[in-house]
Amino acid sequence: MFHTSYIEINKKAYHNNLSWLRNRFGTDTVFSSVIKGNAYGHGIEHMLPLAEEFGVRHFSVFSADEALRAFKTSRDNSEIMIMGMIDDTELEWAIQEGVQFYVFEKERLEKAAKTAERLKKAARIHVELETGMYRTGFNKEELLACIPILRDHPYIQIEGLCTHFAGAESVSNYLRVKNQMKAYERFVRMLHKAGVSFKKCHTACSAASIRYPKTAMDMVRVGIAQYGLWPNMETYLQEIVENNKTTDQQADPLERVISWKSQVMSTKVVPANRFIGYGTSFLTNETTRIATVPVGYTHGFNRSLSNLGRVLINGKRVPVIGLVNMNMMMVDVTTVETVKRGDTVTIIGKEGHIDMTISSFSELSSRLNYETLARLPQDIPRRIVNG
Ligand SMILES: Cc1ncc(COP(=O)(O)O)c(C=O)c1O
Repeated sequence: MFHTSYIEINKKAYHNNLSWLRNRFGTDTVFSSVIKGNAYGHGIEHMLPLAEEFGVRHFSVFSADEALRAFKTSRDNSEIMIMGMIDDTELEWAIQEGVQFYVFEKERLEKAAKTAERLKKAARIHVELETGMYRTGFNKEELLACIPILRDHPYIQIEGLCTHFAGAESVSNYLRVKNQMKAYERFVRMLHKAGVSFKKCHTACSAASIRYPKTAMDMVRVGIAQYGLWPNMETYLQEIVENNKTTDQQADPLERVISWKSQVMSTKVVPANRFIGYGTSFLTNETTRIATVPVGYTHGFNRSLSNLGRVLINGKRVPVIGLVNMNMMMVDVTTVETVKRGDTVTIIGKEGHIDMTISSFSELSSRLNYETLARLPQDIPRRIVNG
């Protein structure tokens, strides 16, 4: 195997999620699969072909390096859109290959126009608007100064007008999001009036598209939901409870796509009154059987899960004891007598009826689901399984 753990990607679960999302948005709204952050840890090279197999032809990434990976992986000439970083030196490649990118500064627009003119090939841009997120995006004055280029430059092709909401998953941001929607509409009217033509309006991530359906417009940029997770509990509850469904687990239309597994490296019986591993954070009360698992913080198992985390072995949840090391951790398997070297250890995933969810894993380590996933190292091998 030459790796201490592996990640399974459940194709059936992924296609189930895509199918639910497509039914929700309809076929008139383009579905852009957000695959930044190594496809939220799932792996760009693994997820993009599965999405294409399902018919997805639009992918959103953060930066040019991710765009290059997506571009090399695509077999269906899918559209690739960079929502963040593109260096001046990468512009030529993007324009040449028809890769789309966000523009949120006059300087980038001018560079894109110049490069496109030199290449005699249109730059396919998305104009990002500042509606109240205050991250990137043109404000009104900056946009006004760009109108001559946006309207008249023969090598600037506006694929979209876009913005991003500052926390659509939480009701506490309701007013801010509503104000952002109004600001976006004002920008669209302003550009129409100025005679600027563009193809698509797009604003929505998973939470916005689910909580504020009007934001879906011509295209949705969906990340977390396609991987089977809700942006947060509030969004899930709104979907399930407010739509008069039950809170039964079965009612969740989304299925987790990822599982993360390793194996028992070794077992050992430790007498009572001994400290386990480095330091003195765990003292045995009684004779204790421990199993060593070859996964540590270098693999994304956070050190803050020391004496706190849980994994599944032989269908039972067992606690991490002592400090999580760089490459391994110890778990207490005293109650699971059958445990032996080579047994599967499930860090995220299901064994029988017991599920180690990403949320439980994230909550214990004070991380967002997004963060837990995106931090999974790229070099853990990913395998596609079907169901
Ligand atoms: C601009 C933009 N659009 C869409 C998304 C997708 O968000 P989500 O994973 O919540 O669907 C993100 C993610 O942070 C984003 O930054």
